This record gives sequence, C-alpha cells and structure tokens, in this order.
Amino acid sequence: MTKLSVNINKFATLRNSRGGDNPSVVKAAIDAQKFGADGVTVHPRPDERHITYKDVRDIRPIITTEFNIEGNPTEQKFVDLVLEVKPHQVTLVPDALGQLTSDHGWDTIKHKEYLVNIISVFKNAGIRVSIFVDPIIGMVEGAALTGTDRIELYTEGYARKFASGNKEDAIAPYVAAATKAKELGLGLNAGHDLDLQNLAYFKQNIPWIDEVSIGHALVCDALYLGYENTIQLYKRQLL
Ligand code: PXP
Repeated sequence: MTKLSVNINKFATLRNSRGGDNPSVVKAAIDAQKFGADGVTVHPRPDERHITYKDVRDIRPIITTEFNIEGNPTEQKFVDLVLEVKPHQVTLVPDALGQLTSDHGWDTIKHKEYLVNIISVFKNAGIRVSIFVDPIIGMVEGAALTGTDRIELYTEGYARKFASGNKEDAIAPYVAAATKAKELGLGLNAGHDLDLQNLAYFKQNIPWIDEVSIGHALVCDALYLGYENTIQLYKRQLL
C-alpha cells in the first residue's frame, strides 16, 4: 500500500495572508485524516512564511496517522523542533534560506559525512529519516551509505515531462532510481508536483513506493472539488 501524506503548508499560506486562524491548520490536519489521508506533512521554513514552529507543536497532539516534518537540518532551530515534537518521520531537504520551494535533492556523495552525522541524531531519537534525492543512481547509492531509512524522490522533473506528453521518458529515471533503492534496502517516498493527472502512472510504474506527500495540487483541487472528495480522488490514484 502506498500512503498518501497530505502537505498542509498551503492552508497556512492562506491563513497568513489575513492573520487570524482561518483556515485553521490544526483543522486541516484533523480533516485530512478524517477524509482518508494516511499522514500529514508540514514544512516549517526558518522565515515561518507558511507553517510556523507553533503550528508544528499544535498539530502534533491531534495526529492519529503519521506525522512527517520536512526541512533543512543545517538550521539548529529545525533540529531542536523535530527532536522536541518527535514526528514519525523527518524528511531532510537541502533547500536554501528563503527558497520558494524545494528544487533539488542532496548531493549524497559530497555531503555524506554531514548526512551520516545528522541522520544518526534523528534515528537515535527513534525518528524515521528520509532524505530528498534526485532520480540519479549515484545519489541513491550515496544515500544508502548515509544510514537513512528512506529516500524521497524529487518528482518535479517527472511532472514537467509528463505534462509535455512524454510519460515514458518522464518515468524512466524514476523507475531506475526506485529499483536501485529497493535493491539497496531503502524505503521509498516521492513528492513535488504530483497531481491527479500524473500520480496513477507514477504508482503503476513504481508499485512498491511507500508514501507520496502532496500539497500544492491537492489544495488547488480542493478549492474546486472539496477537501474530502479531493483526498478520496488522490487515494484512488494509488490503488
Ligand atoms: N516533498 C518535499 C520535500 C517538499 O518540499 C514539498 C513541497 O513543500 C513536497 C514534497 C510537496 O510538493 P507539492 O506541494 O508540489 O505537492
């Protein structure tokens, strides 16, 4: 079974545009789970422009599924928050300060020593670790040497090529990277720009994928289709 973790950052973006607590991110997390999501993802950034550190603490007690926190561990504030909140999974992303959204995976060869050290900090606290990786065999092989439990394949390239009509070319590097991850005993997640058009094909070609985390497209779809219906539609792509 492939789990759907709903990234609720965009609820926070909308809320922050007006101040106050509408829409509530705690309610967004409660409802995601009520409507069938298998997990909730948040990505607090150092500037707290969408999910705040307080949000992460507020959401933790209402999680009945799986809580995944994404972020860059070079920020000590982020490491401290994750160790305090103890989510089921932390996803380490090498994004720069102020970056619009994550746009590349780790160089698992160049940053091997750093990753080995930081991953052990989270694993020693009983938190499963996933690291964001581009679909490149060498990077997957490098990831396997860091001690990470899982990798999350960065799927923006897949989504872009799929949208241009070239789905075989789009999926090929992901199947190769996912196959290598399986051979090496790594768990497998995926995320970024997955949507109702491209998700089923991704799952059909990589059926062993453990989890996808989806935010932007899912929240956009929810505006037209309703939150509950949208989550059910995404779940159906993963059957
Ligand atoms: N995975 C990671 C590491 C991310 O940074 C993001 C965006 O916050 C996602 C998945 C979800 O991407 P999207 O919002 O495009 O579904």
